[in-house]
Amino acid sequence: MESLKRTTEGATPPLRRRCNLRRPWLIAILISVIIVVIIVIVVPLAVILPKKHHHKVKAAKVLFPVYIYPETNTTWDPLYEAITTHPELDFIVIVNPSSGPGSSPPSTQYQVAVKRLSTYSNVQKVGYIPTNYADRNITEVLEAVATYSNWTSESSTLSMDGIFFDEIPYDWNSTKSEYLTQINEAVKNSSGIASPQLIIHNPGTIPDSRYNDTTTDITVVFEQSYSYYETQVNALEDLSTSRRGNYSYMLHSMPTMSNHTLKNFIDDLSDRAEYLFLTTLEANYYEKFDPKLEVFCDMVPTTE
Ligand SMILES: *[C@@H]1O[C@H](CO)[C@@H](O)[C@H](O)[C@H]1NC(C)=O
Ligand SMILES: *[C@@H]1O[C@H](CO)[C@@H](O)[C@H](O)[C@H]1NC(C)=O
Ligand SMILES: *[C@@H]1O[C@H](CO)[C@@H](O)[C@H](O)[C@H]1NC(C)=O
Ligand SMILES: *[C@@H]1O[C@H](CO)[C@@H](O)[C@H](O)[C@H]1NC(C)=O
Ligand SMILES: *[C@@H]1O[C@H](CO)[C@@H](O)[C@H](O)[C@H]1NC(C)=O
Ligand SMILES: *[C@@H]1O[C@H](CO)[C@@H](O)[C@H](O)[C@H]1NC(C)=O
Ligand SMILES: *[C@@H]1O[C@H](CO)[C@@H](O)[C@H](O)[C@H]1NC(C)=O
Ligand SMILES: *[C@@H]1O[C@H](CO)[C@@H](O)[C@H](O)[C@H]1NC(C)=O
Repeated sequence: MESLKRTTEGATPPLRRRCNLRRPWLIAILISVIIVVIIVIVVPLAVILPKKHHHKVKAAKVLFPVYIYPETNTTWDPLYEAITTHPELDFIVIVNPSSGPGSSPPSTQYQVAVKRLSTYSNVQKVGYIPTNYADRNITEVLEAVATYSNWTSESSTLSMDGIFFDEIPYDWNSTKSEYLTQINEAVKNSSGIASPQLIIHNPGTIPDSRYNDTTTDITVVFEQSYSYYETQVNALEDLSTSRRGNYSYMLHSMPTMSNHTLKNFIDDLSDRAEYLFLTTLEANYYEKFDPKLEVFCDMVPTTE
């Protein structure tokens, strides 16, 4: 190392003097060589090397649908375990007693489960409500919001921190748009829904850009299989990364991949969407716990 460095240093001054003073054509050759080197080596490398090598991985959170009845105190153990073994990872748990809130107050078993979720500082809870693509009688939707809100009168440890509206239309019409504005307003009006009163919409795909109600915090812009994701990735990449905090991706039927490949894949998703859910399950994705839940949680980036 040392001797090589000295030799190079020793050779430099005479070469530079000759170039500058006596052989100007050498400069031309040198410049040509540099240009060729840039074209042949640097340009292809810049194209080949993935973008993520140029900036830091962004932190993400888990948006976790748990459509599983907590029949016993241990039914949700895989969820509690994921939460406690990843204290630095934030979870938004979607609570869904009965394709909606069911009764108020909820059953004893649901109360035990929801109260336990309230003991974790890295968990927020949102109540599930379907809208049938804005075709469901809106009175029923507003009643469902009121029912979740009323859980708080039983106990503040049963409070939801927001609402997850499922089956949201992606195609725009003014009637549907007004419907969505109203259901969002109902959440913001509900004193029993705790701050930050998160409003999550799930069209499952990129919605029409005219759905721009600023009270919607998070939109699930992809909810489909891994293989379908591969056909949609270009459109998803076109969404502004500056709005990643408003986007969620939910992927099911994840294939087996090496840890390295999976980690790179999740980092890439996280670059464009802050709220993620991945499962290897290929049916009833949210009604069972994925045997690979722990691996997924291990890989979600948690530091900026
Ligand atoms: C379930 O947990 C609740 C609350 O911690 C407790 O009161 C109840 O006894 C437990 N039930 C069983 C069967 O362990
Ligand atoms: C919606 O449901 C409410 C209460 O059940 C009912 O009064 C109303 O007529 C329904 N509206 C429509 C459009 O069906
Ligand atoms: C609201 O909650 C209270 C306390 O749990 C309950 O007694 C009441 O029946 C609920 N009201 C409605 C409309 O569900
Ligand atoms: C808008 O959507 C609503 C609800 O699906 C539907 O009833 C209505 O006919 C649509 N309006 C237009 C103008 O397409
Ligand atoms: C929300 O509250 C505002 C102000 O009180 C009221 O005008 C509006 O009708 C309410 N909307 C819903 C959907 O509850
Ligand atoms: C939202 O979309 C409407 C068209 O539906 C447009 O008039 C309005 O300017 C948009 N608002 C924002 C904040 O982009
Ligand atoms: C994006 O989310 C933030 C809260 O995280 C919210 O304040 C903002 O209104 C959202 N933007 C849109 C366009 O929905
Ligand atoms: C892959 O990652 C999981 C979870 O982080 C770990 O349990 C497993 O040992 C890893 N497998 C290999 C082959 O490194």
